[in-house]
Amino acid sequence: MSRAFDIVRNNPNRVIIFDTTLRDGEQSPGCAMNLEQKLKMANILDLMGVDVIEAGFPVASQGDFEAVNEIAKIVKNATICGLSRAKKGDIEASAEAIKPAKYKRIHTFISTSPLHMKHKLQMSPDDVLEAVKNSVTFACKFTDDVEWSAEDASRTEDDFLCKCVEVAIESGARTVNIPDTVGYAMPVEMSAIIEMLFNRVPNIDKAIISMHCHNDLGVAVANSLAGVSKGARQIECTINGIGERAGNAALEEVIMALRTRHDLMPYDTNIDTTQITKASRTLSTITGFSVQPNKAIVGANAFAHASGIHQDGMLKNADTYEIMTPESVGLTESKLVMSKHSGRHAFREKLKELGFELGDNALNDAFARFKNLADRKKEVFEDDLIALVEDEIISKDDAIQFVSLQVMAGTSGPQSADLCLNIDGKKICKKVKGNGPVDAIFKAIRAICPHEDAKLQLYQVHAVTGGTDAQAEVTVRLEENGKIISGSGADADTLVASARAYIHALNKLINRREAVNPQTGL
Ligand code: KIV
Ligand code: ZN
Repeated sequence: MSRAFDIVRNNPNRVIIFDTTLRDGEQSPGCAMNLEQKLKMANILDLMGVDVIEAGFPVASQGDFEAVNEIAKIVKNATICGLSRAKKGDIEASAEAIKPAKYKRIHTFISTSPLHMKHKLQMSPDDVLEAVKNSVTFACKFTDDVEWSAEDASRTEDDFLCKCVEVAIESGARTVNIPDTVGYAMPVEMSAIIEMLFNRVPNIDKAIISMHCHNDLGVAVANSLAGVSKGARQIECTINGIGERAGNAALEEVIMALRTRHDLMPYDTNIDTTQITKASRTLSTITGFSVQPNKAIVGANAFAHASGIHQDGMLKNADTYEIMTPESVGLTESKLVMSKHSGRHAFREKLKELGFELGDNALNDAFARFKNLADRKKEVFEDDLIALVEDEIISKDDAIQFVSLQVMAGTSGPQSADLCLNIDGKKICKKVKGNGPVDAIFKAIRAICPHEDAKLQLYQVHAVTGGTDAQAEVTVRLEENGKIISGSGADADTLVASARAYIHALNKLINRREAVNPQTGL
């Protein structure tokens, strides 16, 4: 029997949190992550207490397989899940990748809506039913925790959806997922579908029903909660709501809604909400996608009370305008931490406190960068250290490494960049002119590592802390043949941060070239 099924049987109000940041999130444009980054996110999710981590789509590429496999080795508590189409090869790849995990789940899916069956699959409903039976039965050979999803369930005919769900459960699925794949349904419709399934599918009590809602109309979280109100006991979600198109239901919104409105929705999860801010910020740094300032729960303004009336009320009693506290989501003031006089030991201890355990080499590199920063910046805050160390970690194993940069800038051009990179261990330098210093740097990178098909889509700079000596955090987004990749870089020098961000994106582009999207096949 699957662990999740047992948990819900023992506590019927328990909602299983299935995080798909590393699969549905990662497969969305610009959100690709390398192995190191995926491991880092998996650790945070595990620490946060998510029940299931969908770690990837193992058959997509060697890199995806390896990531799921490595995550399966390190995660201590969460169930590790691999996604598979209704194909033996996909299921075998998932089974192999999740093998080292303490708790393993195989997630297999096929489309059930008339539109998808006709145009995407070119299969008859009977063929799809047969595929449901065969894929779930086959997956059950490898684990007793099998999840089946009806892709495009919200646009599937009721009778056929009921039949598919019944067959999936009969074949051994212990979780049945009802996705609103295209983000089309409204809460009243999602709750009606779940209610209908509970009324009509005879063996529905043998499985957990799950919500997987996309946010195209901005109601993914509302749809997920609507399903729970009718008996669904798993929500599939992602940190910061990343995912295909407008994204998936945001984990932090689902969790804080359940917690804050427990009076109305008396459901429990296993999530330690104080880990939310860290998870959100780490993901933003890794992907280069910062969240909008007014984003619920994790936006920079989510707990800022700007208007005079609000501030006055807040000072008298925080409950006047605050429905949840910043501390409950792990939001604390960035503390002043270190000065240039701080030693290696103190540096290592501080990093430990911030959740970073670096090996000796990485620690030496990070310490050298810290000293350099402390020389240039009067005060070094926790956020500075986080940005610096994240930057060190994300680039550690990359094939292309930043070495040094000298820039000529100012009103009397031409501006130029003298850049050295290490490529697979070989140092290459080029001096290139450009239309401004950033243009010169990016041209120099292109001169050293040609990548004609990749176009620059976004170049964005923001300051990690206040003050003119603040570190810059730069995001660069590249597009190549429809694939979008983001990179980020941090440094006290904005131009160095720009070079690092571009190189980070380029490394990810190289790693990503062979991966396939499980739903579109592209
Ligand atoms: O949105 C969707 O339907 C999916 C499935 C693969 C579960 O992501
Ligand atoms: Zn999805």
